[in-house]
Amino acid sequence: MFLKIVYNLGGSFSQRRKGYAKDAKKGMPRLKIAVIAGDGVGPEVIGGAKRVLERVGERHAIEFGFEDLDWGAEYYFRHGRMMPPSAVEILGACDAILLGAVGHPDIPDHVTLNGLLLPIRRGFDLYANVRPAVLYAGVESPLAGRKAGDIDLVVVRENTEGEYAPVGGFLYHQQPQEVAIQTAVFTRRGIERVVRFAFELAQRRNKKKRVTSITKSNAQAFGMVLWDRVFASVAEQFPDIETETLLVDAAAMNFVRRPESFDVVVASNLFGDILSDLSAMVTGSIGLAPSANLDPTRRHPSMFEPVHGSAPDIAGKGIANPLAAILSAGLMLEHLGQSGAAGAVERAVTAVLAEGQVRTPDLGGDSSTRQVSEAVAGRIG
Ligand code: NAD
Ligand code: IPM
Ligand code: MN
Repeated sequence: MFLKIVYNLGGSFSQRRKGYAKDAKKGMPRLKIAVIAGDGVGPEVIGGAKRVLERVGERHAIEFGFEDLDWGAEYYFRHGRMMPPSAVEILGACDAILLGAVGHPDIPDHVTLNGLLLPIRRGFDLYANVRPAVLYAGVESPLAGRKAGDIDLVVVRENTEGEYAPVGGFLYHQQPQEVAIQTAVFTRRGIERVVRFAFELAQRRNKKKRVTSITKSNAQAFGMVLWDRVFASVAEQFPDIETETLLVDAAAMNFVRRPESFDVVVASNLFGDILSDLSAMVTGSIGLAPSANLDPTRRHPSMFEPVHGSAPDIAGKGIANPLAAILSAGLMLEHLGQSGAAGAVERAVTAVLAEGQVRTPDLGGDSSTRQVSEAVAGRIG
């Protein structure tokens, strides 16, 4: 009952989808990508990501079929909803979803986000939100004394329940005695699967082989206590991985004090959200932080998007950093089994950053979104 989609999306999220390999022509994979550019800087940075993907397609013999979807705030102004009733079927028929950002100053955020982003995450059961943060060569951390490679962590954020569960309501709405109830929902199954994902990721990364679990179980004595218990029991099954548990307030401090100590960090929906803006910033800019919303079971298309939002303060100026979106497209390629192409994207971004000639203002440069995108596209090997 709790996990029922309360925002009307239409359609059913439960249908199984065909594997993309079936769509592949002999020798040349064809990947059908749903593109929701969205609002604000979303279309600007997604333009850059598509430009890079086109180049990747030429160089790596991948055929991209982009399904451009005009959903978001402008769609809402015309239709009174963020996406059409057939959204589920349209997205469900694609191999992956590439999203820019959602959010418009003239529409309440809870309407836009609960009408598009959050129901897609829940509806397609994209339970692992993977948010890497790397300090690249040529990028200055706001923290003193950190050099390239010192910070290399991944926040794995629970993405379907926790504090974001749409459970609650208003009582005496808009009256003086108004009451709002917002319930966090933690399930053993939901915690177990994301914690296990984090341990397996630490094994695959084969770096510090450390998983840090973040809660606030000193104050929140039900959901967070369950999280701690489940974390401890899953940890027993991974004796090769070192563990650490931190309270979220201390974790925030330690993301600044000793970010180099973290490898994989697993946290609830809200804590993972907050900490991944922090991890983005200590590695130079939110404009560099990519993310993957994964359904590790592959029953549904996974969704790839920058960590940042629609940035209305810089929208339309052509100066948004496209690298978070481009790196998200790289994560998408990795998920779709195109590791060579994914590596090429990361290497191209790394090279452009290291050269330091072409960069947007958030990184101290004066280049445009388009110039940075072209520079990366030009470096795709
Ligand atoms: P934001 O991430 O949009 O912006 C925060 C700050 O970072 C701003 O100063 C912005 O200019 C800067 N910034 C963000 N992306 C950048 C980029 N690519 N290059 C350079 N600078 C960049 O967060 P916010 O201001 O809290 O939210 C704005 C809107 O976006 C709100 O409507 C919010 O709900 C929405 N939002 C959407 C998503 C999403 O769709 N995934 C994520 C976060 C926020
Ligand atoms: C993010 C965003 C969203 C979230 C908002 C816009 C609902 O901040 O993807 O980090 O909190 O999940
Ligand atoms: Mn966020």
